[in-house]
Amino acid sequence: MICIKSVEGGILSNPAMISSADLLSRYDQRVPRYTSYPTAPHFQPRVQEAAYRGWLAELDPGVPLSLYVHVPFCDSLCWFCGCHTKIVQRYAPVAAYLDLLLREVELTADAFAGRRRVCHLHLGGGTPTILSAADLERLFAALRGTFDVDVDADIAVEIDPRALTHDSVAALGRVGVNRASLGLQDLDPRVQKAVNRVQSLEETQDIATALRRAGVGSLNIDLMYGLPHQTIAGMLATIDAVMGLAPQRVCLFGYAHVPWMKQHQRLIDEAALPGPEDRFAQYMAAAERLQEAGYVWIGLDHFALPDDPLAVALRERRLHRNFQGYTTDEASARLGFGPSAIGGLPQGFVQNATAMPAYRTAVEAGQLPIQRGLALSDDDRLHSAVIEQLMCYLEVDLGAISRRFGRSPDIFGDAVQGLAEPVADGLVTVEEGIIRVSPRGRPFVRTICARFDRYLAPDAQRHARAV
Ligand SMILES: C[S@@+](CC[C@H](N)C(=O)[O-])C[C@H]1O[C@@H](n2cnc3c(N)ncnc32)[C@H](O)[C@@H]1O
Ligand code: SF4
Repeated sequence: MICIKSVEGGILSNPAMISSADLLSRYDQRVPRYTSYPTAPHFQPRVQEAAYRGWLAELDPGVPLSLYVHVPFCDSLCWFCGCHTKIVQRYAPVAAYLDLLLREVELTADAFAGRRRVCHLHLGGGTPTILSAADLERLFAALRGTFDVDVDADIAVEIDPRALTHDSVAALGRVGVNRASLGLQDLDPRVQKAVNRVQSLEETQDIATALRRAGVGSLNIDLMYGLPHQTIAGMLATIDAVMGLAPQRVCLFGYAHVPWMKQHQRLIDEAALPGPEDRFAQYMAAAERLQEAGYVWIGLDHFALPDDPLAVALRERRLHRNFQGYTTDEASARLGFGPSAIGGLPQGFVQNATAMPAYRTAVEAGQLPIQRGLALSDDDRLHSAVIEQLMCYLEVDLGAISRRFGRSPDIFGDAVQGLAEPVADGLVTVEEGIIRVSPRGRPFVRTICARFDRYLAPDAQRHARAV
């Protein structure tokens, strides 16, 4: 068992007296979102195509795959956007890209012997529904022609409701999409104008209704807090209006303002951005309203109806976290297609070339367009499991997890010592090697996970704030 004595004492004797401002000043740090561990900035160029091909060839043919397909195009730029996308005015680059994508799928499948089952398929972006109805069908025909997609596979697509025709909605139904994620963010006109994303409730409602009619049964709505001019009243009004769409899931993302990485975010008036305390208040108020409306709060930023598979997975301890956020996806091998897409295999992570020219050159030369990656060590796997459990369940049993990996829990000695301050502040408890994040600690779970991150350098500028 880990020696935890020294973290049980209190630096501050009454955590209830500590203000949010004080907590934010100490725990709202620039830390990763932990959609993977190790996180993508630690991937190395030494992991290239040859390593990936080797890993693919070693995969157990009986184990189903999860596929992620990235479509890096949008019709117009939301100034807050942190995604890997490009604005296009013409369809020609999108059509040309689909050819490349299908070639990449073919090249990857050639690296296996025989056909593979697929249990999860996610189209993300950018805006995948920028593909015409005919091209969506072409993409799915190619994927189904290459892989054996399970009849009950989870097939999800990210949608910008402002740019979706009823033709495309019908195509999504025909190709078997059963879950759609609709970007909405905030309905307040002042906020929408300040981020260059004007979108009415009515157009969102219209698409939601059409999707359900087309057989896309499960809907997720993306909301954001921390945007310019955003107010708690505006957010709560947005949530109340969104409840009329009866989504199965809601994501509540904190705006990640990283203008040093995403230069277009400089178009946002920083003076209009809420400060840390206002952001925190927005987050907590929105989370409370969603729970009052009957949603289960999952991890950091997802909410799901109690009978939704995500909430069921939380209860049954089958929840996972990957590059799409919280997921029911249990596949041990996840292949990524398209520029910047990340794949995760039991052996490690790979990321495709981010820039379209490099991606194109590789695919046209018949190469898998891997730019960098990371071969996992046993130590990485152990720490990854700890961080995933904390992010998913806000709790981890270090003794049980170490035993599962054949290691001594002493390996976490320093990390547990590093929890002394959050323990004293009432953010976590450590008892018998079990770490539990308290409701007050939940908004800071990323900062708590960072204590278990062996790669984290004090690189303050890389990530967005924790809250
Ligand atoms: C790929 S987009 C969703 C699909 C579609 N492109 C759209 O915007 O409607 C994924 C979601 O990421 C969130 N997002 C984008 N940029 C973000 C940022 N800088 N910080 C936090 N969340 C962000 C938004 O909620 C957005 O809906
Ligand atoms: S938020 Fe969505 S629609 Fe807006 S630019 Fe980013 S990916 Fe495109």
